[in-house]
Amino acid sequence: MQSKHYSDKLLEVRDLKVSFPTSRGVVRAVNGISYDVHRGEVMGIVGESGSGKSVSAYSIIGLLKSPAVIDGGSIRFEGRDILSMSRKQMEKFRGGEISMIFQDPMSSLDPVFPIGHQLTETLHSHKKISRSDARQQAIQMLQSVGIRDAQQVMKKYRSELSGGMCQRVMIAMALLCGPKLLIADEPTTALDVTIQDQIIRLLKDLQERNGMSMIFITHNFGIVADICDSVSIMYGGTVVEQGSVNDVFYSPLHPYTKALMKAIPRVDYKEYERLIPVEGMPINALSPPGGCGFHPRCASCMQICRQKAPARKEISYGHSASCWLLEDVQESEEAVVNEK
Ligand SMILES: Nc1ncnc2c1ncn2[C@@H]1O[C@H](COP(=O)(O)OP(=O)(O)O)[C@@H](O)[C@H]1O
Ligand SMILES: [Mg+2]
Repeated sequence: MQSKHYSDKLLEVRDLKVSFPTSRGVVRAVNGISYDVHRGEVMGIVGESGSGKSVSAYSIIGLLKSPAVIDGGSIRFEGRDILSMSRKQMEKFRGGEISMIFQDPMSSLDPVFPIGHQLTETLHSHKKISRSDARQQAIQMLQSVGIRDAQQVMKKYRSELSGGMCQRVMIAMALLCGPKLLIADEPTTALDVTIQDQIIRLLKDLQERNGMSMIFITHNFGIVADICDSVSIMYGGTVVEQGSVNDVFYSPLHPYTKALMKAIPRVDYKEYERLIPVEGMPINALSPPGGCGFHPRCASCMQICRQKAPARKEISYGHSASCWLLEDVQESEEAVVNEK
C-alpha cells in the first residue's frame, strides 16, 4: 500500500442525491455523496449490500433506470457536466470515455449475437473504423485480456463460455475504445475464488498499462487493500469515511469502517473470501433512522448521534469522516446509549 499524490482531477462528484419513488414510499438510495477520482487513480467504494454503490455508479455513466430520480448534486468529468448531457452525447461518452463492467457478465452480453459481432460493432460505432479493422482490434483486445484462442472465441455465443471467460470478454468490451475511467461494479462476485484472483490481477495490470483511472466497487475490504489507492466507505447512501488506503487502513476513523475491517476474515488479504457481515441490520432505506444513519448499530452511540447527522470532518489531508466522536461533544450528550 502506497500513498500517491494526484493533481489532475478526472471525475468530480458533488453532493449527489438519487431517490426512487415507490408505491411504499420514497427510497433515498444516495443521500448527498461527494468524491474525486484523479487521472491514474484507483478508488475503491466499499459498503454493504444496499448502501447505494451501484446507484451512484449508474448515475455517472447515465444508466439509471426509471423510476430513479436525481434530486440534486453534480457530476463533472474533465470539467464537463455529465448530468446535463443529451441522450446522444451520453451514448457517445459511455464506452468511449467511461466504461463499466458489471457483477453479472451474462446479463451484459447479448445471447443472440456471437462475441465477435458484439465487439466489432462496439468499435465500429464508436470509432467509425472499417469492420475489418474493428475485427483485428477486437481480436487483439481479447488476446490482451488473456484469451489465447481469440479467433475461436470471436465465433462463440455467450452460452458457450464459462463465467470467467465471459468476464474477460466483458473487460475486453469495456476497454475497446480506450476509456479514461473504468467502473468495475463487484466484477468478481459471481466467480469462484481462483478466477476472482485472476480477474482482479488482470484489471489492475490493464489499469496500470493504460494509465486508466478506475472505480472499484466491492463489499470486500481485502481487495481494496490490494489494488486501490484511495477508498470511500459508503453506509446507507452516504460516504461515512474517505481517504488514501493507507490512512483508512492504518487509522480508521468511523466505527463502521472499524467494524468492516474487523469483518475481514483473515489478515492475508490475498484471500478474497466473502466478508463476515457487520453486526446488526443495514438501514431500511424506506424509513432511515434519524441522526447518524449508523447509530442503531454503533457501540459508541451517544445522545447526539440519534438527533443530528454529523458533518464531514477532515482529520488530515484528504482523510475525512462523518462521526460525532470526532467532534467536541458536550458532556450531557456524551453518554453511550446503545445497549449491547
Ligand atoms: N429500481 C429500484 N427501485 C427502488 N429502490 C431501488 C431500485 N434500485 C435500487 N434501489 C434501492 O437503492 C438502494 C441502493 O441500491 P444499490 O445502489 O443497488 O446498492 P449496492 O450497490 O450498494 O448494493 C437500496 O436500498 C435499493 O433497495
Ligand atoms: Mg450493487
